[in-house]
Amino acid sequence: MPATGAKPAGVTDEAQAAAAVRQMFDSIAGRYDLLNHVLSANVDRMWWWRAARRFRTILADPEASILDICCGTGDMTLALLKRRPRGSRPILAADFSREMLRRGARKFGSSEFRTSKTQSKSPPHAVAVPVEADALHLPLRDSSLDLVTTAFGFRNLANYEAGLREFHRVLKPGGRLGILEFSEPGGLVGKAYALYFRRVLPAIGRAICGKDYPYTYLPASVGSFPPPAQMLEMMRAVGFTDCKWQPYTFGIAGLYTGTCGTCGAADGARAAPAVLQTALARH
Ligand SMILES: C[S@@+](CC[C@H](N)C(=O)[O-])C[C@H]1O[C@@H](n2cnc3c(N)ncnc32)[C@H](O)[C@@H]1O
Repeated sequence: MPATGAKPAGVTDEAQAAAAVRQMFDSIAGRYDLLNHVLSANVDRMWWWRAARRFRTILADPEASILDICCGTGDMTLALLKRRPRGSRPILAADFSREMLRRGARKFGSSEFRTSKTQSKSPPHAVAVPVEADALHLPLRDSSLDLVTTAFGFRNLANYEAGLREFHRVLKPGGRLGILEFSEPGGLVGKAYALYFRRVLPAIGRAICGKDYPYTYLPASVGSFPPPAQMLEMMRAVGFTDCKWQPYTFGIAGLYTGTCGTCGAADGARAAPAVLQTALARH
């Protein structure tokens, strides 16, 4: 079965799918963090931390250019920031839902990562710059980034292959990609999880958020997301090498990693306006 992209109920094309996803996240932004932590029993914090740790060498380089796309309310971005030396280039934290991004931007400037210790000295703590942008049309130059991460956002893209191509385009040769995403484990854990995901989770989501759709969309979108072997195949097909999937918590979630091959931007990919390049300059 070829994987194309997210298909929210009732949409007929990619533009409609993207609009429906953006609208849905705008509508649940106020309750998103609470729901996330309740529904995952805070295990999500460990997933973000583990994903960030995987890229600790790049993160420790103050000159590295980093994008966290589909950053939403910013918890993956915060996990990355905690590993950045002070005075590093800012991380770009991008999302196309203004309401999600607004909440994320508040966190990037909060004391959550700006400890009194880091405030007292200069150069300043590492920062993130919030950017409203679509993952499928990044306003960044070809071959300009050392690391692209995305947590629980990739599954929502209207076209997975186009997303991977765009990430490949903006990464430098040798740059790294990390996609943290849900998956469907097999065996007994899978059966128990499917029950939770399809029955319990939508009920809790409805109770907290007062809406049905987002929490019926969530299990549906995980169910239609390509399994790890197919996802790794798609990554290789667009030019990523060294592609791996590391399961987290019995395979409920997992981290896809890949390295940008050398052909990306040069093999005919579209050049994007470089409007954000200045935001990546050393802070
Ligand atoms: C489930 S949230 C994840 C947020 C955050 N990364 C986290 O781990 O909690 C998915 C996010 O992806 C964003 N998103 C989905 N499709 C996108 C696209 N094409 N471009 C930019 N952001 C997108 C949504 O707006 C939403 O904020």
